This record gives sequence, C-alpha cells and structure tokens, in this order.
Amino acid sequence: MSSHHTLLITGGAGFIGSNFVLSAIAQGHRVVNLDALTYAGNLGNLSSIESNPNHIFVQGNINDRDLVERLLSEHHPSAIVHFAAESHVDRSIAGPEAFLKTNIDGTFTLLRAARAYYESLAPEARMGFRFLHVSTDEVYGTLAPEDPAFHEKTPYAPNSPYAASKAASDMLVRAWVHTYKLPALITNCSNNYGPFQFPEKLIPLMILNALAGKPLPVYGDGQQVRDWLFVTDHCTAISAVLENGQIGETYNVGGGNQRANLDVVNTVCALLDELRPDSPFVPHGQLITYVQDRPGHDRRYAIDARKIESELGWHAAESFETGLRKTVQWYLNHPDWLDNVTSGAYQQWVTKNYAARTEAATGDYAVAPVEAGAK
Ligand code: NAD
Ligand code: DAU
Repeated sequence: MSSHHTLLITGGAGFIGSNFVLSAIAQGHRVVNLDALTYAGNLGNLSSIESNPNHIFVQGNINDRDLVERLLSEHHPSAIVHFAAESHVDRSIAGPEAFLKTNIDGTFTLLRAARAYYESLAPEARMGFRFLHVSTDEVYGTLAPEDPAFHEKTPYAPNSPYAASKAASDMLVRAWVHTYKLPALITNCSNNYGPFQFPEKLIPLMILNALAGKPLPVYGDGQQVRDWLFVTDHCTAISAVLENGQIGETYNVGGGNQRANLDVVNTVCALLDELRPDSPFVPHGQLITYVQDRPGHDRRYAIDARKIESELGWHAAESFETGLRKTVQWYLNHPDWLDNVTSGAYQQWVTKNYAARTEAATGDYAVAPVEAGAK
C-alpha cells in the first residue's frame, strides 16, 4: 500500500495476521489489531513492535459487535483486513462448533458493523474504504491428479467443517457486496508456511517433532498434494488486492508449488540433516510414521493465480526451496518461541489428535471433541 493508512486487522496475533501486521507497520501504516488470543493467537509474534505507537492491540472477539463498532468509530480505519478464524482442519473435525461461531457468525458481525460504518462515512472516505476477507482454496473442495487448478469461477464444494465455514463466510461477503454495496474483496489462498506458524500444521509440526526425535505422523499414504506459498508472499498479495483489486472480485493466491506431503516431510528432514548434522536423530527421515488418515481428506489442491498475476502484477518472490530453508532456519533460531507455544493446551491437542490415529489401526476414526477456541 503506497500512502499511510489506518487498518483494522482481525486475527493479527495469528500466523498470517502477525506477518501482515509486521509488514504493515514496517510500511508506516497504523494498525488496530483485534484478536481474541485463542490458543492460536500469540503476542510473542508481535514482540518486535511492542512499543510501537502505530500498533494498537485490542484483545477481543470479532463476535462482540459493540466492541467492533467502537473500534471503527474511534479509529476511522480506511480498511478492514479480516484474518480472524479457526483455521485447523483437524480441530474442525474434532469440534466444529467454534468454527461456525468464529468463521460464520464472526464474519457476519464484522460485515454488519462494517456496513454501518461505511454508510456513516463522507463520500470521499467511502471511495477509499475496503473490506478484505482472507479466505482459503479449501472452499473449492478437492482435485483429481489431472484436474486443472482452482480458478476464481471453480464451483464451491467444501469438504471439511473448516472449509464449509469459510465457504459460508465467503458467501456472506459476496451478499454484502451485492445487496448493500459494501466495497469488499475476497482472497482465496493456498497453504501458507513460514515464521510464526503454530506447530499443529504440517511443516512446523514436523520440524518440532524431528528436533525432539518424535514420530513424524504422515496421514494415509502421504500422497495428498498441497500448493505451498511462503507467508510473506501471501501478505504482498493481500496488499496488492487492497490497493488495486476490483471491488466485489475474488483473487486466487498461490505459489505454483504443488508437492505431495511425503515429499514435503522428506525435504524438511533433509534440511534438518544438513543444518543439525550432530543430532542423534540423523537421518531424520527414519522418524516418518504412517498414521490413520484424516476423515474426508482432500486429495489435492492447486491454485491458478493468473488473475492476480496479470491484473495486479503480483508474483510470489520465494520458491518452495528458498522458502522452506528460511522456515526451517527460523524455527531452529527461535527455540524460545517454540517452547512458549507448545506448553499446556498444545500437549493436550497433540495427545488427542495423534493418539486416536496411532492406536486405531483399523476401525472408525474418533477424536474426543476439543474446543478449538479454548486456550
Ligand atoms: P491462525 O489460526 O494462525 O490465527 C488465527 C487468529 O485469529 C489467532 O490469532 C486467533 O487468536 C484469532 N481468532 C480466532 N478466533 C477469533 C475470534 N472469535 N475473534 C478474534 N480473533 C480470533 O490462522 P492463520 O493460519 O494465520 O489464518 C489466517 C486466515 O487466513 C484465516 O482466515 C484462514 O482461514 C486463512 N487462510 C489460512 C491459510 C493457511 O495456510 N494458514 C491459507 C489460506 C487462508
Ligand atoms: O489450503 C489452505 C489451508 O491450508 C488453510 O485454509 C488452512 O487454514 C490451513 O490449515 C491449511 O490446511 P491443510 O489441512 O492443508 O493444512 P495442514 O498443515 O493441517 O495439513 C497439510 C497436509 O498435511 C494435509 O494433507 C494433511 C497432512 N498432515 C497434516 C498434519 C498436521 C499430515 O500428514 N500429518 C499431520 O500431522
């Protein structure tokens, strides 16, 4: 974004949100960061801007309409960038309720408050106002090996409770544009990786377990394909859409890095063998363990990013090789960050998710419900 703005960012203490907040502050923007600090939110991600007066952190829930309205009227943002969500597919299978509350109800609350705020603005401020909804490629469902990549017109076919809740929130945003003329845009992005990702997701979980000599749990046959994007590339895509995207449009964002999960895990292991040659667990690949598959596991995601590339001139800066090396190195350089996020409730989740998989060699998959939003 070229000139300096005030942005209301939701979920700015999470993985992608905190990366975006750090970059927005570095560009001179003022950020009001609304985050409930669930298990996935971590102020440690923002310690480098702790005393920066341009970063105003507010611990609160996007479902608190009074709070959202107060923040809008007090701070007069020129944009709302909406990251806050329950984001982990496995947790959505174990306990979908929090996903509906945050991802659907929470987006509805934000849209209502945003509309009232937008309608209260003077004509010139209205022209510049944007609501950017950060969404996922999982709304499109799953691809067979020969299928073309997801494009913006691919029909929605969400398969997990997480994907269904994000698809519902996308539909609400679409309706607010169409019916109320709210100047909103949607981005649908593929799998992100990089600094500050909570180690419940594939790449940081594998790094953490490998360092501790624990099994590396590969679901099913490990041949499911994801399209990986380094997190700062997602952030530059969001900035490009905020600045130059067409109101009411959606933009697919992806790095063109399709990899099978097993290849990703093997590459992480090879990087650790190189960067930690004295570890007693070299070769780390020996720790790979096949465990029971995720129910309803989507086989393949792939993004066709030609629209954002041709219309907005956005391109990913990192290849998967450079981005993954930076990521592994970042986790090796930040043991305190890992210690901090893996205490308490994290252990509870890991026990529930992986004990059910390894103990149940046959039969139905069953994970006791875990409230996703709970610390
Ligand atoms: P995350 O789980 O790391 O962070 C979510 C943040 O939202 C946390 O800080 C959490 O405290 C906050 N939050 C949760 N519920 C809240 C509520 N009710 N009120 C206020 N704050 C709340 O998620 P992430 O991986 O950074 O994903 C951010 C967004 O990007 C999500 O909307 C997700 O669907 C989307 N997305 C993620 C990926 C990915 O690969 N991680 C890819 C595409 C899109
Ligand atoms: O595609 C975008 C989505 O990517 C985002 O919308 C989600 O918020 C984000 O969590 C991510 O979803 P995935 O389910 O693809 O990510 P996850 O890291 O959980 O899993 C990646 C792949 O690795 C998936 O095929 C499941 C597999 N996996 C995952 C874990 C945690 C394993 O094999 N073992 C594991 O322990």
